[in-house]
Amino acid sequence: MKVLGIETSCDDTSVALYDSETGVAENLISSQVELHNNFGGVVPELASRAHLVNLLPIVDHLLQRQNLTLKDLDGLAVTAGPGLVGALLVGLSTGKALAMAADLPLVGIHHIEGHILANALTADMVFPAMVLVVSGGHSEVIYMPEVGRYEKLGGTLDDAAGEAFDKTAKLLGLPYPGGPPIDRLARKGTPGRFSFPRPLQKDPRIVFSFSGLKTAVRLAVEKLPQPLTEQDVCDVCYETQEAIVDSLLQRLFKAARLKHVKSVYLAGGVAANGRLRERTAEEAQKRGLHFIPPERVYCTDNAAMIAYAGWCHLDAGRRDGLDLDSFPRGTVTTWR
Ligand SMILES: Nc1ncnc2c1ncn2[C@@H]1O[C@H](COP(=O)(O)OP(=O)(O)OP(=O)(O)O)[C@@H](O)[C@H]1O
Ligand SMILES: [Mg+2]
Repeated sequence: MKVLGIETSCDDTSVALYDSETGVAENLISSQVELHNNFGGVVPELASRAHLVNLLPIVDHLLQRQNLTLKDLDGLAVTAGPGLVGALLVGLSTGKALAMAADLPLVGIHHIEGHILANALTADMVFPAMVLVVSGGHSEVIYMPEVGRYEKLGGTLDDAAGEAFDKTAKLLGLPYPGGPPIDRLARKGTPGRFSFPRPLQKDPRIVFSFSGLKTAVRLAVEKLPQPLTEQDVCDVCYETQEAIVDSLLQRLFKAARLKHVKSVYLAGGVAANGRLRERTAEEAQKRGLHFIPPERVYCTDNAAMIAYAGWCHLDAGRRDGLDLDSFPRGTVTTWR
């Protein structure tokens, strides 16, 4: 079965082809980072317009590269939410128009389910699993007994982990998105020079909070002679990353213990973080849990994860009609 995936929930226009016989055949991503860089974050209206300009040419390009027409496809999968509604609507209307024109089945995919199932593009997933979803808009711990069944056990009370990376980077004058430069600079950081909070560790719930971290970083930076030296920046990056990773892993493994799972997974853009991947592997090994990190290209937004998730839905017989709507927020829900 050949499924075309479309992802336009935020600032990446992505189109991919998943073939259930051979795997991901294409995963094309047109990034809008340059467009939004001057504004220090994504400008929703600009994102929608850029999707509108880029999406159909990328679909055409993919079909040409694969020597296919729409009629050769078996289905279409489109991110329906959560995300920026204007941006989502561009993908959704395009998906509906293509499905109608070529008489193809269409399924709407929850973006976070896409991030979670991106793990299956790297290796077969082992169940029951505990998944740590850490992205630009989400920090959640999700129990997953099988594909299509999800139970959110907890999440952030304020900022998402990706937001914590992005806001710290902004304070340090680093480019957006902030995760990749912090990941890189933290490797040259001095352990022990700063100490940032890891709140709510004793809270019985599975909850995170990153707003205090942002304040602690700001106060530490303000106390330093200006402009900051390169070493100052590396040291702040080091401790910020350690504080975030400690907070995340304490909850992930607490939840894993509660539910007696066989495996743990990372999902979303922050899953590309080198230190998070390394520490998760160490902690999983200590507890005898299965863990394989997802390939980095499938961590941040991409349509391969949407095409694959679409195949799971279509293969299970699920279909959406042309009344499929977009949604700005909401937890991933069970559909099987
Ligand atoms: N190596 C890295 N280390 C830490 N964070 C990273 C790394 N690479 C990317 N990120 C972070 O990942 C986030 C982007 O992830 P993603 O594309 O999944 O978010 P989003 O789609 O905007 O949000 P959501 O998936 O919640 O809707 C950004 O906050 C970015 O800083
Ligand atoms: Mg995302």
